[in-house]
Amino acid sequence: MKKLRFGVIGAGGIARTRTIPGIVLAGNAELAAIMDVNEKLLAEMAQQYGVKGYQSAEELLADPQIDAVYIASPVFAHLEQVKAAAAAGKHILVEKPAGRTAEECAQMLSACEAAGVQIGVGFMMRFHTYHRQLREIIAKGALGQIVSARAQQVFWYPDIPNCWRQQKALSGGGALMDVGIHNIDLIEYIVSSPVKRISGFTQTRTISYDVDDVCNLLIQLENGAVAYIDGAFNMHAAPGGNLLEIYGTRGTVLIQGSIGQQEAGDPKAFYMDEEGKRQMLPLQGDFGNLYQKEIEGFASAVLEGRPVPVPLTEGMHIQRVAEAAYQAQAEGRTVEVEEG
Ligand SMILES: NC(=O)c1ccc[n+]([C@@H]2O[C@H](COP(=O)([O-])OP(=O)(O)OC[C@H]3O[C@@H](n4cnc5c(N)ncnc54)[C@H](O)[C@@H]3O)[C@@H](O)[C@H]2O)c1
Repeated sequence: MKKLRFGVIGAGGIARTRTIPGIVLAGNAELAAIMDVNEKLLAEMAQQYGVKGYQSAEELLADPQIDAVYIASPVFAHLEQVKAAAAAGKHILVEKPAGRTAEECAQMLSACEAAGVQIGVGFMMRFHTYHRQLREIIAKGALGQIVSARAQQVFWYPDIPNCWRQQKALSGGGALMDVGIHNIDLIEYIVSSPVKRISGFTQTRTISYDVDDVCNLLIQLENGAVAYIDGAFNMHAAPGGNLLEIYGTRGTVLIQGSIGQQEAGDPKAFYMDEEGKRQMLPLQGDFGNLYQKEIEGFASAVLEGRPVPVPLTEGMHIQRVAEAAYQAQAEGRTVEVEEG
């Protein structure tokens, strides 16, 4: 089978723990090279995987053995690296949030369109088998009209000196940009309807950094359904993990633990059948590796010349929703999402 050869820019962090193992497991992808500013980490990982280790993105991008890049550097570095990768003719999978602002995403899109390369965003929770099954079940109407939903992702993230994620100028935001956007995207994906308006709170309440440590948001989707999104750096997840809840006129789905980096979860789901009897909703727990699935989805689309599964146009929309959420907090009102 033809394989998409990946270069990884920003090889520590999530690339090291999850996505590089996902590339290695993927049947249609290959790890060709890595780049990181941390020389010790670069040397260790290049040796561990037996691949080339580059000290600059420019060197990696000049390598003709690389078809695509996975960018998992801190968010402030994404824009320049995406532009350089596009100019070098490489397809791009960039981690979420793609940029600090929707304007940065728009610049990335222009660069990729001009270069004729594809760009996808790392919303890997869309690849969870329960989330995919739910999207299909809901599209077929088995839960009736979707009335409301909730997606929660919280953890404890204390102040760490020089941490880029805790400085707004480097990250674009805190709990909302880190985990809130994952779950806004997830609700849109499962319910197949985009966010139209948003209200709620993004606050720094507990920890002394200049980004939000908690967001509590109400989003209304185009189809009228309302979802509660809570993301936090100042709480500990309940035993069993974070919560996903979907409420429809004919059924309810509650899953603990499908939100996060593991393909896992404990669902409780029912629907009312034609005779008005309550039936269990069969969700098949055929678990694998979310990052392998994400890489395989991206690679097969690029290799077969189809649009990538999570295009940056959708990532840019989520960024606009996040900006509307910050505006809702600043102005104390409900804000319509502008599509630009
Ligand atoms: N989808 C997910 O599951 C998930 C999970 C965590 C993080 N992320 C995203 O991945 C990205 C990275 O987050 P992280 O938690 O891995 O960060 P991190 O700080 O843990 O790791 C970033 C890595 O990039 C390197 N780096 C720093 N500056 C660089 C530069 N200019 N060029 C190349 N490499 C550079 C660092 O040395 C480090 O190895 C962010 O966009 C984040 O939101 C996604």
